Amino acid sequence: MSLYLDNAATSYPKPEQVYQAVLHAMREVGASPGRGGYRRSLEASRIVFQAREALATLFSIPDSARIIFTHNATGALNLALRGVLKTGDHVITTSMEHNSVVRPLQALSQSGVAVTVVVAGSDGIIDPDDIRHELRPETRMIAVSHISNVCGAVQPLEQIAVVAREAGALFLVDAAQSAGYRSIDVGCIGIDLLAAPGHKGLLGPSGTGFLYAAPNVTLTPLMQGGTGSHSTLDTQPLTMPEGFEAGTLNLPGIAGLKAGVDFILERGIDAISRHEQALTQQAEALLNEIPELTIYGPRDPSQRGAVLSFTVAGIDPSILAAGLDHDFDIAVRAGLHCSPQAHRTLGTLPGGTVRISPGWSTTCEEIAFFSDAVVQCLAKITSA
Ligand code: ALA
Repeated sequence: MSLYLDNAATSYPKPEQVYQAVLHAMREVGASPGRGGYRRSLEASRIVFQAREALATLFSIPDSARIIFTHNATGALNLALRGVLKTGDHVITTSMEHNSVVRPLQALSQSGVAVTVVVAGSDGIIDPDDIRHELRPETRMIAVSHISNVCGAVQPLEQIAVVAREAGALFLVDAAQSAGYRSIDVGCIGIDLLAAPGHKGLLGPSGTGFLYAAPNVTLTPLMQGGTGSHSTLDTQPLTMPEGFEAGTLNLPGIAGLKAGVDFILERGIDAISRHEQALTQQAEALLNEIPELTIYGPRDPSQRGAVLSFTVAGIDPSILAAGLDHDFDIAVRAGLHCSPQAHRTLGTLPGGTVRISPGWSTTCEEIAFFSDAVVQCLAKITSA
């Protein structure tokens, strides 16, 4: 049995219709979207439009033109942070962020943006009152990752959105580990900026992602170039979305992303969520039987996404992950998962954790196989 348990890094396998859509876009369509009046180009534009519409349906976004395609969540987060924050602004973020938020904010702090990091509890959950206490008159944004990529902690978005509204600050949500896993209604929650990858829970190909910017957000593009419109202008047009998508779009990727989102809409996001939550709970119960093993993150399953991190006393996480790969062909991620501050919060520096992240096609038999494999690997490592 070959087992892939690293869906938090990128989802695999994709539903069959995703592979078919990529192939169709490359073989049968071929042309650039928004760059010609002939049939193939119009068909490419139609696919891109339909992908935006599918995303708008999934996230209850009223106007799909407010969805900007990017190469990944990192591109979306850079646009949200660097395209909004200016010298003199203050931003509040958390100790559970990925480097895709930490590093752009570090760069912005060099140009006069003040950054406050609110530290989560030892289970990885943020107290919204801790954010409220850090508000300043110049607080322009609150930036929070919905579900931790390290321990699966689910942040109380609705309550944090209330804090943002009270302060007149924009609310940026990094949905890298929640888009496609959890129901997200941007209007009901009060999200102004939603950044997501296309290749994780949304089941699209690598090289896809998007930023949703609500109508109240004023964005500055990070890139200048061709948009297929306003061609006589020397300056970058600010029209949504193409003013923020300079250059040729990734048509095969976007076609695959559309197919992934259609699959989620057909199956139902709540059914996917329940399936992955059940697998995570099963894994937690089985791993808890192993002596010396510690699981991190919230105990309450409703506060945990489809990500589970653990350590075993005296064992380097990377040795255990290598054993699972070598002896059982099981793919898990070990180490810091590009989120060192989250590990500081959880107390898992410097070695990090072993992380598993099941996906839509993972079965409970596979989780049982994984847990048996952990027991066998540990026996082999400790007897060596
Ligand atoms: N951010 C991705 C992860 O957590 C790559 O693995």
